[in-house]
Amino acid sequence: MISSGKIQRDNRGCPYSPEFSDIYASRDGAYQQARFVFLGGCGLPERWQGKDQFVILENGFGLGTNFLTVLRAWREDSQRCERLLYTAIEGFPLSAQDLERYCSVELKTEAKELAEKWPVLTPGVHQIFFDEGKVVLTLYFSEALQAAKQLACSFDAFFPDGFSPKKNPAMWQPKLLKSLAAHAREGSVLSTWCVASDVRRSFMESGFDVQKTVGFGHKSQMTVGRYAPRFSHRRAALPFDRPKRVPRSVLVIGAGLAGAAAAERLHARGLNVTIIDASFVPAGGASAIRWGVAHAQPSADDNFLFRLSRSGLFMLQDTLKRYPGYSELNGLFQMARDEEELARWQHWFECGKPFHFPRTFLRLADTEEVRERLGYQPRFGGLMHGGAGIVSIATWVRERVNRLRTPVILNMRVDRLERQNGLWTAFDAFGVPIASAESAVLSAAHDSARLSGLPISLDQWKGRLTLLSREATAGFEGAVTGPGYLIH
Ligand SMILES: Cc1cc2nc3c(=O)[nH]c(=O)nc-3n(C[C@H](O)[C@H](O)[C@H](O)COP(=O)(O)OP(=O)(O)OC[C@H]3O[C@@H](n4cnc5c(N)ncnc54)[C@H](O)[C@@H]3O)c2cc1C
Ligand SMILES: C[S@@+](CC[C@H](N)C(=O)[O-])C[C@H]1O[C@@H](n2cnc3c(N)ncnc32)[C@H](O)[C@@H]1O
Repeated sequence: MISSGKIQRDNRGCPYSPEFSDIYASRDGAYQQARFVFLGGCGLPERWQGKDQFVILENGFGLGTNFLTVLRAWREDSQRCERLLYTAIEGFPLSAQDLERYCSVELKTEAKELAEKWPVLTPGVHQIFFDEGKVVLTLYFSEALQAAKQLACSFDAFFPDGFSPKKNPAMWQPKLLKSLAAHAREGSVLSTWCVASDVRRSFMESGFDVQKTVGFGHKSQMTVGRYAPRFSHRRAALPFDRPKRVPRSVLVIGAGLAGAAAAERLHARGLNVTIIDASFVPAGGASAIRWGVAHAQPSADDNFLFRLSRSGLFMLQDTLKRYPGYSELNGLFQMARDEEELARWQHWFECGKPFHFPRTFLRLADTEEVRERLGYQPRFGGLMHGGAGIVSIATWVRERVNRLRTPVILNMRVDRLERQNGLWTAFDAFGVPIASAESAVLSAAHDSARLSGLPISLDQWKGRLTLLSREATAGFEGAVTGPGYLIH
Protein backbone atom coordinates (compact mmCIF):
# COMPACT_ATOMS: atom_id res chain seq x y z
CA MET A 1 0.00 0.00 0.00
CA ILE A 2 1.30 3.44 -0.82
CA SER A 3 1.95 6.25 1.60
CA SER A 4 2.48 9.91 0.78
CA GLY A 5 6.05 10.94 0.09
CA LYS A 6 8.16 13.10 2.36
CA ILE A 7 10.38 15.81 0.98
CA GLN A 8 12.70 18.48 2.34
CA ARG A 9 15.75 20.40 1.16
CA ASP A 10 19.28 19.12 1.73
CA ASN A 11 22.09 21.37 2.93
CA ARG A 12 22.59 22.60 -0.64
CA GLY A 13 18.93 23.45 -1.12
CA CYS A 14 18.07 20.49 -3.37
CA PRO A 15 14.81 18.52 -2.95
CA TYR A 16 15.72 15.49 -0.82
CA SER A 17 13.90 12.40 0.42
CA PRO A 18 14.60 11.64 4.10
CA GLU A 19 13.06 8.17 3.61
CA PHE A 20 15.44 7.18 0.81
CA SER A 21 18.34 9.44 1.87
CA ASP A 22 18.68 10.63 -1.69
CA ILE A 23 18.07 13.72 -3.79
CA TYR A 24 15.17 13.87 -6.27
CA ALA A 25 17.37 15.02 -9.17
CA SER A 26 20.88 16.12 -10.04
CA ARG A 27 22.37 18.94 -7.95
CA ASP A 28 23.49 20.40 -11.27
CA GLY A 29 19.85 21.28 -12.04
CA ALA A 30 16.69 19.15 -12.15
CA TYR A 31 15.22 20.85 -15.22
CA GLN A 32 18.55 20.74 -17.05
CA GLN A 33 18.98 17.07 -16.14
CA ALA A 34 15.50 16.26 -17.47
CA ARG A 35 16.33 17.96 -20.77
CA PHE A 36 19.76 16.41 -21.15
CA VAL A 37 19.31 12.90 -19.78
CA PHE A 38 15.69 11.98 -20.36
CA LEU A 39 14.61 14.04 -23.37
CA GLY A 40 18.06 14.25 -24.95
CA GLY A 41 18.92 10.61 -24.26
CA CYS A 42 15.68 9.45 -25.90
CA GLY A 43 16.13 11.76 -28.90
CA LEU A 44 13.19 14.00 -28.01
CA PRO A 45 11.53 16.05 -29.30
CA GLU A 46 12.66 14.81 -32.76
CA ARG A 47 11.53 11.23 -32.14
CA TRP A 48 7.87 12.18 -31.57
CA GLN A 49 7.66 14.60 -34.49
CA GLY A 50 5.05 13.80 -37.13
CA LYS A 51 3.62 10.88 -35.13
CA ASP A 52 -0.04 10.72 -34.24
CA GLN A 53 0.78 9.37 -30.79
CA PHE A 54 3.83 9.01 -28.58
CA VAL A 55 3.91 7.10 -25.30
CA ILE A 56 6.38 7.66 -22.48
CA LEU A 57 6.69 5.42 -19.43
CA GLU A 58 8.42 6.70 -16.32
CA ASN A 59 9.27 4.73 -13.21
CA GLY A 60 9.38 7.21 -10.30
CA PHE A 61 7.26 10.33 -10.92
CA GLY A 62 8.53 12.26 -7.90
CA LEU A 63 8.16 16.01 -8.40
CA GLY A 64 7.13 15.48 -12.01
CA THR A 65 10.17 17.41 -13.28
CA ASN A 66 10.62 15.03 -16.20
CA PHE A 67 6.93 15.14 -17.08
CA LEU A 68 6.70 18.93 -16.86
CA THR A 69 9.84 19.31 -18.98
CA VAL A 70 8.32 16.98 -21.57
CA LEU A 71 5.04 18.90 -21.44
CA ARG A 72 6.81 22.19 -22.05
CA ALA A 73 8.94 20.77 -24.89
CA TRP A 74 5.80 19.31 -26.51
CA ARG A 75 3.96 22.63 -26.28
CA GLU A 76 6.91 24.52 -27.79
CA ASP A 77 7.40 22.07 -30.67
CA SER A 78 5.59 23.07 -33.87
CA GLN A 79 6.08 19.53 -35.26
CA ARG A 80 4.93 17.72 -32.13
CA CYS A 81 3.03 14.44 -32.19
CA GLU A 82 -0.74 14.84 -32.08
CA ARG A 83 -1.14 13.12 -28.72
CA LEU A 84 1.29 12.57 -25.92
CA LEU A 85 0.52 9.81 -23.45
CA TYR A 86 2.70 9.90 -20.34
CA THR A 87 2.37 7.02 -17.89
CA ALA A 88 4.21 7.23 -14.59
CA ILE A 89 4.54 5.01 -11.53
CA GLU A 90 4.84 6.53 -8.07
CA GLY A 91 4.61 4.68 -4.78
CA PHE A 92 5.00 7.68 -2.48
CA PRO A 93 3.18 10.56 -4.15
CA LEU A 94 3.90 14.06 -2.90
CA SER A 95 1.19 16.55 -1.99
CA ALA A 96 0.04 19.18 -4.47
CA GLN A 97 1.59 21.87 -2.24
CA ASP A 98 4.96 20.09 -2.28
CA LEU A 99 4.87 19.78 -6.08
CA GLU A 100 4.65 23.56 -6.28
CA ARG A 101 6.95 24.31 -3.38
CA TYR A 102 9.84 22.11 -4.53
CA CYS A 103 9.57 22.43 -8.32
CA SER A 104 12.40 23.78 -10.46
CA VAL A 105 12.22 27.55 -10.92
CA GLU A 106 12.07 27.03 -14.69
CA LEU A 107 8.89 24.97 -14.32
CA LYS A 108 6.85 27.09 -11.91
CA THR A 109 3.97 27.68 -14.33
CA GLU A 110 3.65 24.05 -15.35
CA ALA A 111 3.98 22.83 -11.73
CA LYS A 112 1.12 25.12 -10.70
CA GLU A 113 -1.00 23.68 -13.48
CA LEU A 114 -0.18 20.13 -12.36
CA ALA A 115 -0.86 20.95 -8.69
CA GLU A 116 -4.29 22.29 -9.61
CA LYS A 117 -5.16 18.99 -11.29
CA TRP A 118 -3.36 16.72 -8.79
CA PRO A 119 -5.64 13.95 -7.48
CA VAL A 120 -6.40 13.25 -3.84
CA LEU A 121 -3.67 10.87 -2.68
CA THR A 122 -5.40 7.52 -2.87
CA PRO A 123 -3.89 4.35 -4.33
CA GLY A 124 -4.73 3.27 -7.85
CA VAL A 125 -4.75 4.76 -11.33
CA HIS A 126 -5.44 8.46 -11.90
CA GLN A 127 -5.69 10.26 -15.23
CA ILE A 128 -5.09 13.95 -15.75
CA PHE A 129 -5.72 15.74 -19.02
CA PHE A 130 -3.85 18.73 -20.43
CA ASP A 131 -4.37 20.76 -23.61
CA GLU A 132 -7.90 19.59 -24.40
CA GLY A 133 -6.93 16.00 -23.69
CA LYS A 134 -4.09 15.92 -26.22
CA VAL A 135 -1.72 15.22 -23.35
CA VAL A 136 -2.79 12.49 -20.94
CA LEU A 137 -0.90 11.86 -17.73
CA THR A 138 -1.72 8.43 -16.28
CA LEU A 139 -0.43 8.00 -12.75
CA TYR A 140 -0.12 4.63 -11.05
CA PHE A 141 0.02 5.43 -7.34
CA SER A 142 1.28 2.01 -6.39
CA GLU A 143 4.37 0.04 -5.47
CA ALA A 144 6.39 -0.28 -8.70
CA LEU A 145 6.32 -4.07 -9.03
CA GLN A 146 2.59 -4.17 -8.47
CA ALA A 147 2.04 -1.31 -10.94
CA ALA A 148 4.18 -3.06 -13.56
CA LYS A 149 1.79 -6.02 -13.50
CA GLN A 150 -1.18 -3.75 -14.21
CA LEU A 151 0.35 -1.46 -16.83
CA ALA A 152 -1.87 -1.07 -19.86
CA CYS A 153 0.39 0.56 -22.42
CA SER A 154 3.27 -0.14 -24.74
CA PHE A 155 5.81 2.64 -24.67
CA ASP A 156 7.97 4.49 -27.20
CA ALA A 157 10.34 5.89 -24.58
CA PHE A 158 11.18 4.74 -21.06
CA PHE A 159 12.54 6.95 -18.24
CA PRO A 160 13.77 4.80 -15.30
CA ASP A 161 14.28 7.27 -12.43
CA GLY A 162 13.93 5.65 -9.01
CA PHE A 163 16.68 7.14 -6.78
CA SER A 164 20.12 5.57 -6.77
CA PRO A 165 20.17 1.74 -6.98
CA LYS A 166 22.40 1.66 -3.87
CA LYS A 167 19.85 3.62 -1.85
CA ASN A 168 16.75 2.08 -3.42
CA PRO A 169 17.46 -1.32 -5.06
CA ALA A 170 13.73 -2.12 -5.26
CA MET A 171 13.31 0.32 -8.18
CA TRP A 172 16.10 -1.33 -10.18
CA GLN A 173 15.58 -5.02 -9.40
CA PRO A 174 15.83 -7.23 -12.50
CA LYS A 175 12.31 -8.61 -12.06
CA LEU A 176 10.84 -5.08 -12.17
CA LEU A 177 12.97 -3.83 -15.05
CA LYS A 178 12.13 -6.91 -17.11
CA SER A 179 8.46 -6.56 -16.34
CA LEU A 180 8.51 -2.91 -17.48
CA ALA A 181 10.64 -3.72 -20.53
CA ALA A 182 7.97 -6.22 -21.61
CA HIS A 183 5.97 -3.14 -22.62
CA ALA A 184 8.59 -2.08 -25.18
CA ARG A 185 8.00 -2.27 -28.91
CA GLU A 186 10.49 -2.60 -31.75
CA GLY A 187 12.40 0.69 -31.77
CA SER A 188 11.42 1.83 -28.24
CA VAL A 189 14.19 3.76 -26.49
CA LEU A 190 15.25 4.31 -22.91
CA SER A 191 17.48 6.73 -21.13
CA THR A 192 18.69 7.15 -17.57
CA TRP A 193 21.51 8.74 -15.59
CA CYS A 194 22.09 5.32 -13.95
CA VAL A 195 25.09 3.34 -15.26
CA ALA A 196 25.17 0.56 -12.65
CA SER A 197 26.31 -2.64 -14.38
CA ASP A 198 23.51 -4.77 -12.88
CA VAL A 199 20.92 -2.34 -14.18
CA ARG A 200 22.42 -2.28 -17.67
CA ARG A 201 22.54 -6.07 -17.67
CA SER A 202 18.82 -6.22 -16.85
CA PHE A 203 18.06 -3.89 -19.74
CA MET A 204 20.20 -6.02 -22.09
CA GLU A 205 18.58 -9.25 -20.95
CA SER A 206 15.20 -7.62 -21.62
CA GLY A 207 16.10 -7.01 -25.27
CA PHE A 208 17.64 -3.52 -25.14
CA ASP A 209 20.80 -2.64 -26.95
CA VAL A 210 22.42 -0.36 -24.35
CA GLN A 211 25.29 2.07 -24.52
CA LYS A 212 27.05 4.47 -22.23
CA THR A 213 27.17 8.06 -23.44
CA VAL A 214 28.35 11.36 -22.00
CA GLY A 215 26.50 12.12 -18.77
CA PHE A 216 25.01 15.30 -17.36
CA GLY A 217 26.78 17.70 -14.99
CA HIS A 218 29.29 16.04 -12.72
CA LYS A 219 28.29 12.55 -13.92
CA SER A 220 30.65 11.52 -16.69
CA GLN A 221 28.32 8.87 -18.16
CA MET A 222 24.70 7.89 -18.59
CA THR A 223 22.85 4.97 -20.21
CA VAL A 224 20.80 5.00 -23.39
CA GLY A 225 19.18 2.00 -25.02
CA ARG A 226 17.12 0.87 -27.97
CA TYR A 227 14.80 -2.11 -27.96
CA ALA A 228 16.14 -4.56 -30.51
CA PRO A 229 15.62 -8.10 -29.22
CA ARG A 230 17.94 -10.68 -30.81
CA PHE A 231 15.26 -13.34 -30.76
CA SER A 232 11.86 -11.98 -31.54
CA HIS A 233 9.62 -14.70 -30.21
CA ARG A 234 5.97 -14.58 -31.13
CA ARG A 235 3.82 -13.59 -28.25
CA ALA A 236 0.08 -13.48 -27.92
CA ALA A 237 -1.44 -10.07 -28.59
CA LEU A 238 -1.63 -8.11 -25.35
CA PRO A 239 -4.55 -5.87 -24.45
CA PHE A 240 -2.29 -2.81 -24.60
CA ASP A 241 -0.92 -3.59 -28.07
CA ARG A 242 -1.81 -0.81 -30.46
CA PRO A 243 -4.00 -1.63 -33.43
CA LYS A 244 -2.10 -1.72 -36.73
CA ARG A 245 -4.22 1.14 -37.98
CA VAL A 246 -5.92 3.66 -35.74
CA PRO A 247 -9.46 4.34 -37.02
CA ARG A 248 -10.18 7.91 -38.11
CA SER A 249 -13.94 7.84 -37.74
CA VAL A 250 -16.42 6.44 -35.25
CA LEU A 251 -20.18 6.03 -34.78
CA VAL A 252 -21.32 6.58 -31.22
CA ILE A 253 -24.70 4.93 -30.80
CA GLY A 254 -26.55 6.35 -27.81
CA ALA A 255 -26.13 9.90 -26.49
CA GLY A 256 -26.51 9.43 -22.74
CA LEU A 257 -23.82 9.88 -20.06
CA ALA A 258 -21.76 7.05 -21.57
CA GLY A 259 -22.10 8.10 -25.23
CA ALA A 260 -21.38 11.78 -24.52
CA ALA A 261 -18.22 10.88 -22.59
CA ALA A 262 -17.01 8.45 -25.27
CA ALA A 263 -17.76 10.96 -28.04
CA GLU A 264 -15.86 13.72 -26.24
CA ARG A 265 -12.76 11.60 -25.63
CA LEU A 266 -12.70 10.20 -29.17
CA HIS A 267 -13.21 13.67 -30.63
CA ALA A 268 -10.27 14.90 -28.51
CA ARG A 269 -8.24 12.04 -30.01
CA GLY A 270 -8.90 13.45 -33.46
CA LEU A 271 -11.55 11.01 -34.69
CA ASN A 272 -14.51 12.14 -36.78
CA VAL A 273 -17.42 11.33 -34.51
CA THR A 274 -21.05 10.81 -35.57
CA ILE A 275 -23.57 10.43 -32.76
CA ILE A 276 -26.88 8.61 -33.30
CA ASP A 277 -29.68 8.45 -30.75
CA ALA A 278 -33.22 7.08 -30.80
CA SER A 279 -34.50 9.90 -28.66
CA PHE A 280 -35.41 13.39 -29.93
CA VAL A 281 -32.80 14.95 -27.64
CA PRO A 282 -29.48 13.77 -26.17
CA ALA A 283 -29.89 12.31 -22.67
CA GLY A 284 -33.34 10.97 -23.44
CA GLY A 285 -32.88 7.63 -21.61
CA ALA A 286 -31.71 6.98 -18.04
CA SER A 287 -29.55 10.13 -18.28
CA ALA A 288 -32.70 12.27 -18.54
CA ILE A 289 -32.66 12.80 -14.76
CA ARG A 290 -32.46 16.39 -13.54
CA TRP A 291 -29.95 15.75 -10.74
CA GLY A 292 -27.86 12.70 -9.85
CA VAL A 293 -25.49 12.10 -6.98
CA ALA A 294 -21.81 11.47 -7.71
CA HIS A 295 -19.54 9.84 -5.13
CA ALA A 296 -17.09 6.96 -4.73
CA GLN A 297 -18.40 3.57 -3.60
CA PRO A 298 -16.06 2.59 -0.75
CA SER A 299 -15.38 -1.00 0.20
CA ALA A 300 -13.21 -2.60 2.87
CA ASP A 301 -11.22 -4.61 0.34
CA ASP A 302 -10.62 -1.75 -2.12
CA ASN A 303 -12.55 -3.69 -4.73
CA PHE A 304 -12.83 -2.86 -8.41
CA LEU A 305 -15.94 -0.70 -7.94
CA PHE A 306 -14.23 1.44 -5.30
CA ARG A 307 -11.10 1.92 -7.42
CA LEU A 308 -13.12 2.70 -10.53
CA SER A 309 -15.60 5.01 -8.82
CA ARG A 310 -13.00 7.11 -7.01
CA SER A 311 -10.87 7.42 -10.12
CA GLY A 312 -14.07 8.37 -11.99
CA LEU A 313 -14.97 10.94 -9.34
CA PHE A 314 -11.59 12.66 -9.63
CA MET A 315 -11.91 12.78 -13.41
CA LEU A 316 -15.45 14.07 -13.11
CA GLN A 317 -14.31 16.88 -10.81
CA ASP A 318 -11.68 17.92 -13.34
CA THR A 319 -14.03 17.61 -16.32
CA LEU A 320 -16.78 19.61 -14.66
CA LYS A 321 -14.41 22.56 -14.18
CA ARG A 322 -15.01 23.16 -17.88
CA TYR A 323 -18.78 23.14 -17.30
CA PRO A 324 -19.44 25.64 -14.53
CA GLY A 325 -22.99 25.66 -13.24
CA TYR A 326 -23.79 21.99 -13.91
CA SER A 327 -22.76 20.58 -10.54
CA GLU A 328 -22.37 21.19 -6.83
CA LEU A 329 -19.43 19.10 -5.71
CA ASN A 330 -18.88 20.44 -2.23
CA GLY A 331 -19.31 17.29 -0.18
CA LEU A 332 -21.98 14.63 0.16
CA PHE A 333 -23.22 12.84 3.26
CA GLN A 334 -23.93 9.11 2.98
CA MET A 335 -26.14 7.91 5.80
CA ALA A 336 -25.56 4.36 7.09
CA ARG A 337 -28.35 1.94 6.34
CA ASP A 338 -28.38 0.73 9.96
CA GLU A 339 -26.20 0.53 13.05
CA GLU A 340 -24.40 -2.49 11.71
CA GLU A 341 -23.27 -0.64 8.60
CA LEU A 342 -22.20 2.35 10.67
CA ALA A 343 -20.12 0.09 12.96
CA ARG A 344 -18.51 -1.49 9.88
CA TRP A 345 -17.54 1.93 8.52
CA GLN A 346 -16.17 3.01 11.90
CA HIS A 347 -14.04 -0.14 11.92
CA TRP A 348 -12.49 0.85 8.54
CA PHE A 349 -11.29 4.13 10.03
CA GLU A 350 -9.97 2.53 13.19
CA CYS A 351 -7.91 -0.01 11.21
CA GLY A 352 -6.99 2.19 8.22
CA LYS A 353 -8.83 -0.27 6.01
CA PRO A 354 -8.42 -0.57 3.03
CA PHE A 355 -6.09 2.47 3.42
CA HIS A 356 -5.93 5.65 5.47
CA PHE A 357 -8.46 7.87 3.73
CA PRO A 358 -7.34 11.47 3.29
CA ARG A 359 -9.86 13.58 5.27
CA THR A 360 -10.62 15.66 2.22
CA PHE A 361 -11.75 12.46 0.50
CA LEU A 362 -13.66 10.45 3.11
CA ARG A 363 -14.37 10.83 6.83
CA LEU A 364 -16.97 9.88 9.39
CA ALA A 365 -19.73 12.38 10.17
CA ASP A 366 -22.18 12.26 13.06
CA THR A 367 -25.86 13.19 13.03
CA GLU A 368 -25.24 16.55 14.73
CA GLU A 369 -22.80 17.70 12.06
CA VAL A 370 -25.27 16.71 9.35
CA ARG A 371 -28.12 18.54 11.09
CA GLU A 372 -26.08 21.74 11.18
CA ARG A 373 -25.01 21.35 7.59
CA LEU A 374 -28.21 20.23 5.90
CA GLY A 375 -30.94 21.34 8.30
CA TYR A 376 -32.19 17.86 9.03
CA GLN A 377 -31.29 15.18 11.55
CA PRO A 378 -30.54 11.79 9.94
CA ARG A 379 -31.33 8.57 11.80
CA PHE A 380 -27.70 7.41 11.68
CA GLY A 381 -24.33 8.99 11.15
CA GLY A 382 -22.26 7.94 8.17
CA LEU A 383 -19.64 8.96 5.65
CA MET A 384 -18.82 12.44 4.43
CA HIS A 385 -17.51 12.25 0.86
CA GLY A 386 -15.31 15.28 0.12
CA GLY A 387 -15.49 16.67 -3.42
CA ALA A 388 -18.61 14.61 -4.11
CA GLY A 389 -22.07 16.04 -4.67
CA ILE A 390 -24.74 16.42 -7.31
CA VAL A 391 -24.60 16.79 -11.08
CA SER A 392 -27.32 18.15 -13.32
CA ILE A 393 -27.02 15.11 -15.56
CA ALA A 394 -29.44 15.75 -18.45
CA THR A 395 -28.47 19.39 -19.04
CA TRP A 396 -24.76 18.59 -18.71
CA VAL A 397 -24.91 15.69 -21.19
CA ARG A 398 -26.77 17.90 -23.70
CA GLU A 399 -24.23 20.70 -23.28
CA ARG A 400 -21.38 18.19 -23.67
CA VAL A 401 -22.83 16.87 -26.93
CA ASN A 402 -23.56 20.41 -28.22
CA ARG A 403 -20.02 21.63 -27.55
CA LEU A 404 -18.54 18.87 -29.70
CA ARG A 405 -19.96 20.30 -32.91
CA THR A 406 -20.01 16.86 -34.50
CA PRO A 407 -22.97 15.46 -36.46
CA VAL A 408 -25.74 14.31 -34.11
CA ILE A 409 -28.53 12.26 -35.67
CA LEU A 410 -31.52 12.25 -33.34
CA ASN A 411 -34.88 10.48 -33.44
CA MET A 412 -33.14 7.61 -35.18
CA ARG A 413 -33.15 4.11 -33.69
CA VAL A 414 -30.37 1.89 -34.96
CA ASP A 415 -31.85 -1.46 -35.86
CA ARG A 416 -28.64 -3.24 -36.79
CA LEU A 417 -24.97 -2.71 -37.50
CA GLU A 418 -23.15 -4.31 -40.38
CA ARG A 419 -19.44 -4.40 -41.21
CA GLN A 420 -18.46 -4.27 -44.88
CA ASN A 421 -15.21 -3.25 -46.56
CA GLY A 422 -13.71 -1.98 -43.31
CA LEU A 423 -16.71 0.17 -42.40
CA TRP A 424 -19.46 -0.20 -39.82
CA THR A 425 -22.83 0.90 -41.19
CA ALA A 426 -25.83 1.58 -38.95
CA PHE A 427 -29.23 0.73 -40.49
CA ASP A 428 -32.70 1.82 -39.43
CA ALA A 429 -35.69 -0.54 -39.13
CA PHE A 430 -36.45 -0.17 -42.88
CA GLY A 431 -32.95 -1.31 -43.78
CA VAL A 432 -31.94 2.21 -44.83
CA PRO A 433 -28.32 3.09 -43.99
CA ILE A 434 -28.04 5.92 -41.42
CA ALA A 435 -24.27 6.50 -41.29
CA SER A 436 -20.95 4.66 -41.62
CA ALA A 437 -17.57 4.84 -39.92
CA GLU A 438 -14.43 2.77 -39.40
CA SER A 439 -15.35 1.96 -35.82
CA ALA A 440 -18.42 2.01 -33.60
CA VAL A 441 -19.09 2.52 -29.90
CA LEU A 442 -22.23 0.98 -28.45
CA SER A 443 -23.49 3.18 -25.64
CA ALA A 444 -27.16 2.38 -26.18
CA ALA A 445 -27.68 1.04 -22.64
CA HIS A 446 -29.43 -2.36 -22.70
CA ASP A 447 -29.86 -2.28 -26.50
CA SER A 448 -26.05 -2.46 -26.84
CA ALA A 449 -26.21 -6.21 -26.18
CA ARG A 450 -28.65 -6.81 -29.05
CA LEU A 451 -26.76 -4.51 -31.45
CA SER A 452 -23.42 -6.15 -30.69
CA GLY A 453 -24.79 -9.61 -31.46
CA LEU A 454 -22.69 -10.86 -28.57
CA PRO A 455 -24.14 -13.10 -25.87
CA ILE A 456 -24.08 -10.34 -23.24
CA SER A 457 -26.86 -10.61 -20.75
CA LEU A 458 -28.17 -7.17 -19.78
CA ASP A 459 -31.37 -6.64 -17.85
CA GLN A 460 -33.49 -3.53 -17.93
CA TRP A 461 -34.05 -2.23 -14.46
CA LYS A 462 -36.57 0.49 -13.78
CA GLY A 463 -35.18 3.41 -11.78
CA ARG A 464 -37.65 5.48 -9.82
CA LEU A 465 -37.61 9.05 -8.60
CA THR A 466 -40.28 10.67 -6.49
CA LEU A 467 -40.82 14.40 -6.78
CA LEU A 468 -41.57 15.81 -3.35
CA SER A 469 -43.36 19.07 -2.62
CA ARG A 470 -41.37 21.96 -1.18
CA GLU A 471 -43.24 21.58 2.10
CA ALA A 472 -42.13 17.95 2.46
CA THR A 473 -38.47 18.99 2.44
CA ALA A 474 -38.85 22.33 4.25
CA GLY A 475 -35.65 23.25 6.06
CA PHE A 476 -33.57 20.72 4.11
CA GLU A 477 -30.83 22.22 1.96
CA GLY A 478 -28.44 20.22 -0.23
CA ALA A 479 -28.22 16.48 -0.89
CA VAL A 480 -27.91 13.28 1.08
CA THR A 481 -27.40 9.71 -0.05
CA GLY A 482 -27.65 6.31 1.61
CA PRO A 483 -30.16 3.53 1.00
CA GLY A 484 -31.83 6.07 -1.33
CA TYR A 485 -31.08 9.72 -1.94
CA LEU A 486 -32.68 13.09 -1.43
CA ILE A 487 -31.77 16.22 -3.34
CA HIS A 488 -33.17 19.64 -2.75
C1 LIG B 1 -34.32 7.35 -11.68
C2 LIG B 1 -32.86 7.20 -11.83
C3 LIG B 1 -32.01 7.81 -10.93
C4 LIG B 1 -30.63 7.67 -11.05
N1 LIG B 1 -29.79 8.32 -10.19
C5 LIG B 1 -28.46 8.24 -10.35
C6 LIG B 1 -27.56 8.97 -9.51
O1 LIG B 1 -27.97 9.68 -8.62
N2 LIG B 1 -26.23 8.85 -9.72
C7 LIG B 1 -25.73 8.06 -10.71
O2 LIG B 1 -24.51 7.99 -10.86
N3 LIG B 1 -26.54 7.37 -11.53
C8 LIG B 1 -27.89 7.44 -11.37
N4 LIG B 1 -28.72 6.74 -12.20
C9 LIG B 1 -28.10 5.90 -13.21
C10 LIG B 1 -27.65 6.75 -14.38
O3 LIG B 1 -28.64 7.66 -14.73
C11 LIG B 1 -27.33 5.81 -15.54
O4 LIG B 1 -26.39 4.86 -15.12
C12 LIG B 1 -26.76 6.56 -16.72
O5 LIG B 1 -27.56 7.66 -17.05
C13 LIG B 1 -26.66 5.59 -17.88
O6 LIG B 1 -26.15 6.29 -18.97
P1 LIG B 1 -26.02 5.55 -20.35
O7 LIG B 1 -25.45 6.54 -21.31
O8 LIG B 1 -25.34 4.26 -20.20
O9 LIG B 1 -27.52 5.17 -20.74
P2 LIG B 1 -28.70 6.11 -21.23
O10 LIG B 1 -28.68 7.45 -20.61
O11 LIG B 1 -29.95 5.32 -21.07
O12 LIG B 1 -28.35 6.32 -22.74
C14 LIG B 1 -28.60 5.36 -23.72
C15 LIG B 1 -29.03 6.10 -24.96
O13 LIG B 1 -29.09 5.18 -26.04
C16 LIG B 1 -30.19 5.49 -26.83
N5 LIG B 1 -30.52 4.25 -27.54
C17 LIG B 1 -30.95 3.08 -27.01
N6 LIG B 1 -31.10 2.18 -28.00
C18 LIG B 1 -30.77 2.79 -29.15
C19 LIG B 1 -30.73 2.39 -30.51
N7 LIG B 1 -31.03 1.15 -30.86
N8 LIG B 1 -30.35 3.27 -31.43
C20 LIG B 1 -30.01 4.54 -31.10
N9 LIG B 1 -30.03 4.98 -29.83
C21 LIG B 1 -30.41 4.11 -28.87
C22 LIG B 1 -31.25 5.97 -25.86
O14 LIG B 1 -32.17 6.83 -26.49
C23 LIG B 1 -30.41 6.72 -24.83
O15 LIG B 1 -30.30 8.09 -25.09
C24 LIG B 1 -30.11 6.88 -12.10
C25 LIG B 1 -30.96 6.27 -13.02
C26 LIG B 1 -32.32 6.44 -12.90
C27 LIG B 1 -33.22 5.81 -13.92
C1 LIG C 1 14.44 10.27 -8.16
S1 LIG C 1 12.76 10.36 -7.71
C2 LIG C 1 11.98 10.64 -9.25
C3 LIG C 1 12.13 12.01 -9.79
C4 LIG C 1 11.15 12.26 -10.91
N1 LIG C 1 11.37 11.42 -12.05
C5 LIG C 1 11.02 13.72 -11.30
O1 LIG C 1 11.06 14.02 -12.51
O2 LIG C 1 10.81 14.54 -10.42
C6 LIG C 1 12.34 8.66 -7.42
C7 LIG C 1 10.87 8.42 -7.13
O3 LIG C 1 10.65 7.01 -7.04
C8 LIG C 1 9.68 6.76 -6.04
N2 LIG C 1 9.84 5.39 -5.53
C9 LIG C 1 10.83 4.91 -4.78
N3 LIG C 1 10.66 3.59 -4.53
C10 LIG C 1 9.50 3.24 -5.13
C11 LIG C 1 8.80 2.01 -5.26
N4 LIG C 1 9.24 0.89 -4.70
N5 LIG C 1 7.65 1.99 -5.97
C12 LIG C 1 7.18 3.13 -6.55
N6 LIG C 1 7.82 4.33 -6.46
C13 LIG C 1 8.96 4.39 -5.76
C14 LIG C 1 9.99 7.81 -4.99
O4 LIG C 1 8.87 8.08 -4.16
C15 LIG C 1 10.41 9.01 -5.82
O5 LIG C 1 9.37 9.91 -6.03
